[in-house]
Amino acid sequence: MTETRANTKKLFIKTYGCQMNVYDSDRMMDALAPHGYETTLDMATADLVLLNTCHIREKASEKVFSELGRLKELQSERRALGGDMMIGVAGCVAQAEGEEIARRAPVVDMVFGPQAYHKLPEMVSRTESTRHLHQALRKPIVDTDFPEEDKFAHLPAARKEVTIKRGLTAFLTVQEGCDKFCSFCVVPYTRGAEVSRPVSQILAEARGLVEAGVKEITLLGQNVNAYHGDDEGRVVGLGELAHRLAEIHGLERLRYTTSHPRDMDDALIAAHRDLDILMPYLHLPVQSGSDSILKAMNRRHTAAEYLKVIETIKTARPDMALSGDFIVGFPGETDQDFEDTLKIIADVGYASAYSFKYSTRPGTPGANLGDQVDEAVKNERLWRLQDLVNAQTTAFHASCVGKTIPVLVERPGRMPGQVGGRSPYLQAVHLDGGAELIGAIHQVEIVGTSTNSLVGRLKVSVAA
Ligand code: SAH
Ligand code: SF4
Ligand code: F3S
Repeated sequence: MTETRANTKKLFIKTYGCQMNVYDSDRMMDALAPHGYETTLDMATADLVLLNTCHIREKASEKVFSELGRLKELQSERRALGGDMMIGVAGCVAQAEGEEIARRAPVVDMVFGPQAYHKLPEMVSRTESTRHLHQALRKPIVDTDFPEEDKFAHLPAARKEVTIKRGLTAFLTVQEGCDKFCSFCVVPYTRGAEVSRPVSQILAEARGLVEAGVKEITLLGQNVNAYHGDDEGRVVGLGELAHRLAEIHGLERLRYTTSHPRDMDDALIAAHRDLDILMPYLHLPVQSGSDSILKAMNRRHTAAEYLKVIETIKTARPDMALSGDFIVGFPGETDQDFEDTLKIIADVGYASAYSFKYSTRPGTPGANLGDQVDEAVKNERLWRLQDLVNAQTTAFHASCVGKTIPVLVERPGRMPGQVGGRSPYLQAVHLDGGAELIGAIHQVEIVGTSTNSLVGRLKVSVAA
């Protein structure tokens, strides 16, 4: 006897890392739903717990093992009550460490990388079928292959009723993996080579999302603007894909992330000029403003080339807001190199940015470089960089006051009688109004700012 009924098993997925992991976790839920797994928000009562992990920095990776320690205790408690809990590790740590995870944490039943998600139902049923055996007799399943088949073709489509619950905005992976091999980065090893999904598959998924009420789609890829998908024998880029998606009736907003400066081609930049649906917000990481550090990072562009790309984009779409990623303390980074990074930030003027201290990742070329930067120096540089970026974000928010902008109202606000949504530039906006505003784009006058958001007042409704 187990404590749950055979047909209603509970699944808890804890997601770390980037937006692609968020998308993948949803796909895993969709894949397991036909096998009787319902999602729960309570890890302690789950029959199956999956950790969807991130390997990008050491801290992110280490979290997995502390969580597995906690899960071991929860599993013992469940067993003491006559129940059970299966445990799986998915995502980029699983891909990078494979067997090592099962060795360090014998509590784990399954270890599988991002290219194995379509095989999840089969892995789970194999694990279920050996539960009656003593732990010592069970062998964990480890799958870190990069298979030939198209996993997306084997994953079920998102269910309409679930998509409705997930809200008005959705992620859609169009490209996975990376061929750039920046010297600090694990992604080419954990996600594998760059693969683009065919246009027809993407359009079908997007239509399904829109039919379920989604108004805004964010296209995902580790190197999304390197997209080169098949369209019935012809290869098309992200600009053309955006045009095709713009034809879907009911889709109001399109975004994409994350882009590499070298892949901002003319067609994509022109799409920003020509398509209203493409939002004027671009996440375009540069990592450093110093040419020698950019070279050591194998970014394959200079600071001047990056600035040139931004200039071209701004000519096509003058109100384009930019965001970026920065790494401080890459091996060999001098005070002058860091000053160059502050300078490029000052030159661009970001709406927002993410910044990180360099973290040595085993297996990457960066791990073999000498001349590591002292931790105290890294901390000091990170604070200075973040001060500058925060001031730019504040200035960007302030520049919106007095303007009327379209806001996709997505949810009830923090206070009763308030609703919340997003500006085209991805800023959170709060305004007075009732639930009837939710689900449409409204013209909103920005009347003020608070720490991380804008305060607005409803002007005219533009969409039903
Ligand atoms: N192009 C990718 C980048 C993924 S990693 C994408 O699609 O998002 C996100 C960011 O993490 C990178 O842009 C980089 O700034 C940071 N990062 C990657 N490896 C890192 C490392 N070893 N140490 C510190 N930061 C790192
Ligand atoms: Fe990593 Fe560079 Fe590829 Fe981005 S472009 S995923 S930072 S290797
Ligand atoms: Fe992390 Fe993998 Fe994403 S390493 S950032 S979860 S691609």
